[in-house]
Amino acid sequence: MRIIHTHTHHIYIYLRFRVLYIYYLSRTHGARDEVRGRMRMANHNLLLCFATFLSLCMIFGPWISIEAAPLASLVTQLPNFNAIFPSKHYSGYINIDGNGENGKNLFYYFVSSERNPEKDPVVLWLNGGPGCSSFDGFVYEHGPFNFEAAKTKGNLPTLHINPYSWSKVSNIIYLDSPAGVGLSYSKNTSNYDTGDLQTASDTHAFLFKWFEQFPELLDNPFYIAGESYAGVYVPTLAHEVVKGIKSGIKPVINFKGYLIGNGVADGRFDGDKALISFVHGMGLISDNIYEDVQAFCKGQLEINSNDEKCSDSLQKVAKAIAELNVYNILEPCYHYPAEAAAKGNASNLPLSFQRLGATERPLAVRKRMFGRAWPFRAPVKEGLVPSWPQILAQSNSASHHNHVPCVNDEVATAWLNNAQVRKSIHAEQESVAGPWEICTDRLRYLHNAGSMIPYHRNLTKLGYRALIYSGDHDMCVPFTGTEAWTRYMGYKIVDEWRPWFSNQQVAGYLQGYDHNLIFLTVKGAGHTVPEYKPREALDFFSRWLEGQNI
Ligand SMILES: *[C@@H]1O[C@H](CO)[C@@H](O)[C@H](O)[C@H]1NC(C)=O
Ligand SMILES: *[C@@H]1O[C@H](CO)[C@@H](O)[C@H](O)[C@H]1NC(C)=O
Ligand SMILES: *[C@@H]1O[C@H](CO)[C@@H](O)[C@H](O)[C@H]1NC(C)=O
Repeated sequence: MRIIHTHTHHIYIYLRFRVLYIYYLSRTHGARDEVRGRMRMANHNLLLCFATFLSLCMIFGPWISIEAAPLASLVTQLPNFNAIFPSKHYSGYINIDGNGENGKNLFYYFVSSERNPEKDPVVLWLNGGPGCSSFDGFVYEHGPFNFEAAKTKGNLPTLHINPYSWSKVSNIIYLDSPAGVGLSYSKNTSNYDTGDLQTASDTHAFLFKWFEQFPELLDNPFYIAGESYAGVYVPTLAHEVVKGIKSGIKPVINFKGYLIGNGVADGRFDGDKALISFVHGMGLISDNIYEDVQAFCKGQLEINSNDEKCSDSLQKVAKAIAELNVYNILEPCYHYPAEAAAKGNASNLPLSFQRLGATERPLAVRKRMFGRAWPFRAPVKEGLVPSWPQILAQSNSASHHNHVPCVNDEVATAWLNNAQVRKSIHAEQESVAGPWEICTDRLRYLHNAGSMIPYHRNLTKLGYRALIYSGDHDMCVPFTGTEAWTRYMGYKIVDEWRPWFSNQQVAGYLQGYDHNLIFLTVKGAGHTVPEYKPREALDFFSRWLEGQNI
């Protein structure tokens, strides 16, 4: 895990050589040996690594005493995964903020491209929250595996290859950020007091250290991507990266652009205004209720409006949509067993309804989704951002038994809290890093970066490419708000509203603007687009990265 910074140049040569060599070996052996037994392959890999290590010892002599991170971070096996890794995986901690144990230990899981890791872009993936782990994306969205739940609750899931993994076309880093989230931690819990600006600068520091360990990827095009509250993480981090490039700090990151899925940007666009037009358009409220809201709330769409008539009509909206799955209005809402018993069985929904949001994944879309999302009905405002667990602790709501509505994260929770899994991915055990939770309440997080619109304007005007996409059945950050703010940017339309296609079907709609800004919808997808529409998601992702027309 440690690089001793005495002879950086030699480390660089060593790393580049090693990675190319391992890559060569994996190519030449991979194709031929698909059918080999797991044990044999594992041993084989170990031998290759050892042989590589020895040959490099001979070439570089004294330098080899340096312990290079990638070798120590290579993931060689995972419990309940009985196939050959489709590409090299690395994982571990990067310590930032010096300060040893009291610094911030940021956990990453890096999946190298299954196509051409030397040339393919490097993409950093961030889930939102704030407080939610990027293993949400890894386990449930576009990671290299599909996770089949164990028959008995609490047991380890079985891992299968995900044919629509984003690692098919890119090198992708899943980062738990900021410290305190997922498997990232600090011994000094004062570090869990944080906010937008601190997080952006920490993640920038992480990137520098990460590229020091993977210098062979520094020339690849680099993109930042994320979802939901990462609508704030992504532009603020991009801003830091661009500042770094301008000031000539080394290493120079080959930053090209960013992608944001169902991301928050600005409370004026993402709040109740977006919600009301979404639920009306989707037929979830009547024309009468809609017209009352328009007439009485006069654009001041605040739930605590002092106007009684406005407040009353907003209550009608809230009542109409309260029992829906906020992350995809087509999906059933997961009821925890006690609630399910009281209310009847969620899977008793009509079959036609259950199929509406069907996915091509071999495994069902989860019925749960924890607020990796911006909490429902809490638009982006300056100041302290409550997490779902914090909101629930305050609300004392008996009806939800302290669970987030519609939420169940059993597979990821079982996997990431297993001691053997943690060992395999070089994560600290619970005694050090704490339990893994999809979204934590360990943070005290301030939204202090303001509206994202000036960030988007500056970044796109500097020539960075931006793809802003929305699953069009998400009610958490509805596409209506995203469509409105992208339009508000005021850029000339260069590719007028049109369907885009995947598998010869309309997969959604897009509008292309000047300055390489694209707004795109994914038809039928919820908050976590690739979870619902994996094929479509891989299609737009790869076309956009390659600079093709989507
Ligand atoms: C703990 O973190 C806080 C805030 O980041 C910092 O001011 C303090 O010096 C740290 N304490 C130690 C012992 O490192
Ligand atoms: C829910 O309904 C399904 C199908 O009707 C049934 O298999 C399952 O056992 C039920 N679960 C509960 C908790 O009642
Ligand atoms: C955007 O650019 C302007 C002009 O350079 C600058 O004054 C402003 O602070 C920038 N805002 C952000 C959020 O980057």
